[in-house]
Amino acid sequence: MAEIRRAVPADADAIAALEAEIYGPDAWSADTVEAELDREDRYYIAIGTDMIEGYAGLFLSRPDADIQTVTVAPQCRRQGLGRELLHHLLVRLREWDYSRVFLEVRSDNTAAIELYEQHGFRRIGLRRGYYAGGVDALNLRLRLGGSPRLGE
Ligand SMILES: CC(C)(COP(=O)(O)OP(=O)(O)OC[C@H]1O[C@@H](n2cnc3c(N)ncnc32)[C@H](O)[C@@H]1OP(=O)(O)O)[C@@H](O)C(=O)NCCC(=O)NCCS
Repeated sequence: MAEIRRAVPADADAIAALEAEIYGPDAWSADTVEAELDREDRYYIAIGTDMIEGYAGLFLSRPDADIQTVTVAPQCRRQGLGRELLHHLLVRLREWDYSRVFLEVRSDNTAAIELYEQHGFRRIGLRRGYYAGGVDALNLRLRLGGSPRLGE
């Protein structure tokens, strides 16, 4: 199993480089990433040190939370890292007694939608043209009270 650690502001440049590579016009700048990593109402984790293999983060707003991102470097995909990152966040939220977790995902992002639905997320809405290029966002929600797999 990959070692998951807390991400810190010193990781900002490495994470921003992956952001630019993966998200293009929707990517966060290094300043935005650093500010995110520094905020008390955020919880970011990473796999890898010199080379970041993946990262994920939460916006904590009790009783609910938002998944800000789950991102795996292209060359490290399909090895279970995305699942491990998401699982870690959901375990923490359950330990901390959060009620629900929300997220937005591009409607054409099959890999991420599959990953979230495998963990019990349900589709609750659609924001038309939310992303660069006019791609819709799907709103997903997971209720945290019950079994990790049931969701609703
Ligand atoms: C989505 C993402 C995080 C998945 O990471 P990953 O490490 O490759 O995923 P895993 O190997 O842990 O796979 C877990 C599950 O995700 C789904 N999945 C992952 N890649 C997939 C693909 N290319 N097509 C379909 N489903 C996929 C599957 O359900 C998979 O379970 P399975 O292996 O039992 O089929 C990764 O593709 C990524 O970083 N994408 C770009 C960033 C992004 O869009 N993040 C989401 C933003 S909200």
